Amino acid sequence: MSSSQGFELRPTTTPTDAGQRDEILSNPGFGRYFTDHMAHVRWTHAEGWNAGEVRPYGPLSLDPAASVLHYAQEIFEGVKAYRHADGSVWTFRPEKNAARFQASARRLALPELDAETFIGSLKALVSQDVDWVPTPASEAEESSLYLRPFMIASEKFLGVRPSKEVDYYVIASPAAAYFKGGVKPVSIWLSSNYNRAAPGGTGFAKCGGNYAASLAAQKEAETHGCDQVAFLDAVESKWVEELGGMNLFFVFKDGRIVTPALTGTILEGVTRDSVLQLAADAGLKPEERGISIEEWREGVHSGEITEVFACGTAAVITPIGELVSDNDRLSCSDGSGGEVGKSIRKQLLDIQYGRVEDRHGWLTRLA
Ligand code: COI
Repeated sequence: MSSSQGFELRPTTTPTDAGQRDEILSNPGFGRYFTDHMAHVRWTHAEGWNAGEVRPYGPLSLDPAASVLHYAQEIFEGVKAYRHADGSVWTFRPEKNAARFQASARRLALPELDAETFIGSLKALVSQDVDWVPTPASEAEESSLYLRPFMIASEKFLGVRPSKEVDYYVIASPAAAYFKGGVKPVSIWLSSNYNRAAPGGTGFAKCGGNYAASLAAQKEAETHGCDQVAFLDAVESKWVEELGGMNLFFVFKDGRIVTPALTGTILEGVTRDSVLQLAADAGLKPEERGISIEEWREGVHSGEITEVFACGTAAVITPIGELVSDNDRLSCSDGSGGEVGKSIRKQLLDIQYGRVEDRHGWLTRLA
C-alpha cells in the first residue's frame, strides 16, 4: 500500500471518467460536485489520532446516535487550491486555517489536530485528485479546488459531554465564483430579528452551528430580495459584526479602511487578515475597531465611506451594493463596485494564482 504525507492511499476503483470530469470543471458552480477521494483521520479518547488515509469519496456510515447529529459538536474550514500557469498547485496561508481549526476545536471541546497533519491531509488529497484542480481560462476566471476540512463527534452516545470518538475528513469540490453571476455588487439585509453570536459564545469558531443559526436570517434576507444578511452585535444591536459567512470592510475617502475588531464574536478570517496586510502595502490606513450601524449609514450618506465590501475564502472580495432594512435602502456603491476593493481583490488573486511575487510567503505547494 502506498502513502502520501503519512496518509495511506486507497484509490477508488471507479474514478470519474476524464470526459465527465472536464464537463464538470467547465462549469462547476460552488459546492455541487466532489472529487473521487477524501482524506480521513480518526481520533479516539483512548488512542489519540490514528494514522490517516486517502480513500474513495462516498457516504459516511454514522450511528444514528452519533453525538454530532444531536448536539452539533462539529467544526470546519474552507481552503482553496489554485493551479498556477506552470501546472503546479498551491494553497494560501494554510497554517492560519490550521491554527483557526485548533481554536475552533478548543471551543467545541474537540481534539486539536496538529498543523502538520492538517496541511499533510490537504497535500495528500490534492496530490491524489490533482486532475480535479481547474485551470483558469483567463485572469478573469477565478476557478479553484475548494477544500473543506471538517471534524465531527462520531461516538454513539446521547449524554451531553465531549465525544470520545471523532473523525476528521477533507473533501474537495471544484469551484467557480461563490455568487452566481460572478463579481457584482450584492445586496445585504440588515437583520433586526436575529443575532449571529453573543459574548462567550461560539462566534469566533468555525462551527456548523453558527451557520445553521444564520439560515433563518438568510431566508428573511431572501424574502426581501437580498443576497446575504448582515448581523449586529447581540448586546447593543449597534455594532456591525459580519455577514452569514464573510467579514466586512469599509473604505473611507481619506484612505482609512476599517473592519470590525475581533472581539470574540467575529470569525478571524484568513482573507480578512490578508486584506489588512495588502491595504497597508498599498498605503491605506487599516483600522480594526468597532463600527456602528449609524457610522455605516452616516458615512455612506456623507460620502465619507466610499465602498463597502465583504470577504472570505469562498467569496474572495465581493462589493456590497445596497444595505436594506425594514425602513431604509442605502446604496453603498454604483453597479460596478468600488475601485479599492477591486484593486485589493486583484492583488490577492494575483498572489494566489502565482501571477506576482509571493512577497509575504503566503503560498504552500500542494502538488
Ligand atoms: C469560506 O469562505 O470558505 C466559508 O467557509 C464560508 C462559507 C459561507 C462558504
